[in-house]
Amino acid sequence: MLRQKICRRQFGLSLAATLAAGPLARAQASDAPRTLRVGLITPPPHNWTRSAAAFGEALAEATDGRLSLSIFPSGQLGNESQMLQLLQIGALDFGFFTTSQFANRLNAFAAFYTPYVATDATHAAAVLQAPVTRDILADVERIGLHGLGFGMAGMRQIVSSRQVDIIRDLKGLKTRVVPDAPLTDFWRLVGAAPSPIPLSSLYDAFANGQIDAMHIDFENTLRLKFYAHARDVLHTDHMIFPMVAVASRRSWQSFSTADQGLIKSLLDKELAALRGLYADADLQFRDELITLGANVKRFEAGWMAEAAEAWEERWAPRTPFIAALKAAAEGLRTGEAT
Ligand code: BEZ
Repeated sequence: MLRQKICRRQFGLSLAATLAAGPLARAQASDAPRTLRVGLITPPPHNWTRSAAAFGEALAEATDGRLSLSIFPSGQLGNESQMLQLLQIGALDFGFFTTSQFANRLNAFAAFYTPYVATDATHAAAVLQAPVTRDILADVERIGLHGLGFGMAGMRQIVSSRQVDIIRDLKGLKTRVVPDAPLTDFWRLVGAAPSPIPLSSLYDAFANGQIDAMHIDFENTLRLKFYAHARDVLHTDHMIFPMVAVASRRSWQSFSTADQGLIKSLLDKELAALRGLYADADLQFRDELITLGANVKRFEAGWMAEAAEAWEERWAPRTPFIAALKAAAEGLRTGEAT
């Protein structure tokens, strides 16, 4: 049971009050009780939302209720682009985001789309702790945010309503992508027809045939029942999927140094737990799908190698972080420090 407050629809009023009060009025004495707002697109049962709830409970406990958290899941405050704007003006305190909106604004984040950069969820969790990821995260300061750390979701797979055996079977398939440039480019290079669709609209789009396939993970395939309309579930592990925990820079600067340290250490613990969770959970979700009758097919690393190479040729000149992240991942795989 989540004891943390997960909000339903009352944000309109409090947002209006916040904006009317202005930023100075928001800077409160450090011992005044304060309810902080976190927005996410994931629904309440998703691990990201649970992680936010656990962070809120730990924060309330450590401060005897002085700092508490209101959680706005399922995109209640809008999509990630809209939530990013709320963070920039200080009307939202924290966000647990996909990399999508960052990749559209900051080239460094394209590194996280490097195909086959990690072999599985365990490797991905380690890659997201590599020192180079701290430099990538620091880039969010340029857009009025403060980076707090990385969680993750499971590795990316493909769910298709058509039979897929060879790479050519993906050609021309209307394939759902998360809306950002590096990912859209990858799917074009595969030969598919990428179509940006948010998680919340994905079930209907797949069920009514608006899309033929999707770039997704085992967890959502199971929890949101995409498998019910799938011919094939392709276990490809072709990309990692970080969760980016950010604070509004305005909001962050209003905390005392002690509170900043406390928030960071409590959140670090939750993010580590989230990264650790997928090492086991990713394959458990896959096994549950198989038990439910999903036609899960394994495609070894490199199945989409041609598109992966073409993607790197196109994107590596835009940011040195692609080479840096690849080197860090390779070092972790072979046990060599980079
Ligand atoms: C997705 O849009 O695919 C997604 C978003 C958040 C968590 C996991 C997946």
